[in-house]
Amino acid sequence: MTAKIRIGVLFGGKSAEHDVSLQSARNVINALDKKKYEVILIGIDKRGQWYIQEAIANIPHQQPGQLTVTTHLNDWVTIVPGQSHTLLTGLMSKEQITTLDVIFPVVHGPYGEDGTIQGLMKLANVPFVGSDVLSSAVCMDKDISKRLARDAGIPIPKFVTIYRRDLANIKEEQIIKEVGLPCFVKPANLGSSIGINKVKTKTELRAAIEKAMLFDNKILVEEGIEGREIECGVLGNDDPIASVPGEIIPKAEFYTYEAKYFDPEGAEVIAVADLPADIVKKVQELAIKAFKTFDCDGMARVDFFLKKDGTLLLNEINTIPGFTRISQYPKMWEASGVGYTELLDRLIQLAMEKFDQRQTIKVSPED
Ligand SMILES: Nc1ncnc2c1ncn2[C@@H]1O[C@H](COP(=O)(O)OP(=O)(O)O)[C@@H](O)[C@H]1O
Ligand SMILES: [Mg+2]
Repeated sequence: MTAKIRIGVLFGGKSAEHDVSLQSARNVINALDKKKYEVILIGIDKRGQWYIQEAIANIPHQQPGQLTVTTHLNDWVTIVPGQSHTLLTGLMSKEQITTLDVIFPVVHGPYGEDGTIQGLMKLANVPFVGSDVLSSAVCMDKDISKRLARDAGIPIPKFVTIYRRDLANIKEEQIIKEVGLPCFVKPANLGSSIGINKVKTKTELRAAIEKAMLFDNKILVEEGIEGREIECGVLGNDDPIASVPGEIIPKAEFYTYEAKYFDPEGAEVIAVADLPADIVKKVQELAIKAFKTFDCDGMARVDFFLKKDGTLLLNEINTIPGFTRISQYPKMWEASGVGYTELLDRLIQLAMEKFDQRQTIKVSPED
């Protein structure tokens, strides 16, 4: 019998998407094949501290489904840079708790999906699921990723970037001249529609900019696109494949935070979008092109707008997509013939392969 792979599942974290991450992680942990994996649960609390968990606990006295990271100082842990095997070490006991063969970061948004945790895992010499430091950071940043997409000839909505330092000097009229109305105002580095507002008149623009600026030092104002929201899963490293495209049909003005997580009627989430074959092909090709442009690894969910005239525009690319049973990424793969547990197996395999490949890269001329 071969030894089980010891996998650390990381969840929670310091972002506004903490709660979503717990939901995703619970599904991942349940679905991992326990014959193949020994699963170590590592919860990150809202301050960013890591704790070993027995299970993802329900919040006491709350309705079922409200999950939390439990924090006992005795279980406070970290991974340690510079070791040949990744050590999970107790910060109070100063003792080695376990080694890890691979980490699956199921953490969304800043301090999780944005390259920061990826950097820590890289320093700790552990294979991890998903994209590396730079691609994670680039895909998190809606401004930088749009610039790179534009450079690669991937169509995107018109946009204007505003930094906090320039807030006092912005000219609403000029912005609207560039992107038109309605427009969308959003923080550059966030997710789950947090801080996003649709603006229909010039008078609403400043308030929307200030709201978005609560969540970041940089925000975007984008041309409002009238079209369908089409999403596509990508899986692989150097030779990635695309899933069947799915569709989100928001019931409100747009796909809001409430619609994503609180209102079951908020949006229709369709795993297989009703699209002609030529558009399906175009979506898949563009999804793979975006994945390669941003140098992603493992997985990504690539989100598009499809206009009535057939034009496809890239909206964004998510390097750690939602992983609940009803999340679009696993659903699109299920519809493409890759079930949830198999999807996890493949992602873990891809993480190990990428890690092994990286070991062959010289870091000094003497190596
Ligand atoms: N330029 C746009 N035109 C039309 N709708 C938009 C635009 N930007 C965002 N939206 C709407 O807002 C939602 C969230 O925006 P998105 O950029 O995907 O941010 P997040 O990373 O929070 O998901 C989209 O799913 C869509 O419904
Ligand atoms: Mg989105």
